[in-house]
Amino acid sequence: MISIRQIHPVFVGEVSGADLTQPLSREDVAAIEAGMDRYAVLVFHDQKITDDQQMDFGQNFGAIENSKGGNITKDHELRLKQGMNDVSNLDKDGQPLERASRQRWFNLGNMLWHSDSSFRAIPAKYSLLSARVVNPVGGNTEYADMRAAYDALDAATKALIDDLVCEHSLMYSRGSMGFEGLTDEERAFMKPVRQSLVRTHPVSKRKSLYLSSHAGKIVGWMVPEARDLLRDLNEHATQRENVYIHRWRQHDLVMWDNRQTMHRVRRFDETQPRDMRRTTVAGDAMTAKQAEAA
Ligand SMILES: [Fe+2]
Repeated sequence: MISIRQIHPVFVGEVSGADLTQPLSREDVAAIEAGMDRYAVLVFHDQKITDDQQMDFGQNFGAIENSKGGNITKDHELRLKQGMNDVSNLDKDGQPLERASRQRWFNLGNMLWHSDSSFRAIPAKYSLLSARVVNPVGGNTEYADMRAAYDALDAATKALIDDLVCEHSLMYSRGSMGFEGLTDEERAFMKPVRQSLVRTHPVSKRKSLYLSSHAGKIVGWMVPEARDLLRDLNEHATQRENVYIHRWRQHDLVMWDNRQTMHRVRRFDETQPRDMRRTTVAGDAMTAKQAEAA
């Protein structure tokens, strides 16, 4: 039987009594989903799973998101099968990517606070990240509770932002790091999408700030005004008391709700492997009306 213990003052539960290599009972799936609604991040230790088992586990909570358009890695460079997001630092042959590798440059963007797939019109629900090989130095993942961030805003700021809509694109997050030289084809799949700045959780009905490094504009605002406000909100949302630091052990699996949290990876030793594999559970609705096609 599954039980969940809160391990951070604000959010995050640690799950015991689950074996993710095996099919779960309906009761266990319901308990995990309820835990996600409440804690927003769940930590499972000692889950030595295969890619197929990880995808089967994810499918308890919705369809697996099509990972196309989320990275510049070309199909022939992929290390993992369809349905698995490779967030390792490894090339197709399992070797750490070269310093000058474009793939590596692009992946450095994961060190910015973000919500997975906020650059998609229908953004992700959950992400499930499995640690197959832990890097010897650093590489912690940090999580911020965006419900707590919203709750702590003053009334005037809540009134200002409640109906705002942002534009999200991989172009904005990578552009903010000085990543240049995107091809026309890459620009085409990075076309900005619109997302509400404030979301309401479908079950708990709690409001949360929907921020991400992919957000680069606010509809109807000048870009510098928008960037100022977004930067300010990001600073507010990632204050230490609302942040959980996950220090990875091999075979940990961490599952988070992208609708209620942001996350980022911290620096690690890039000459050594860090084999992390993500499965993404697709969301089921847009958060804002999209712009008319030009
Ligand atoms: Fe991510």
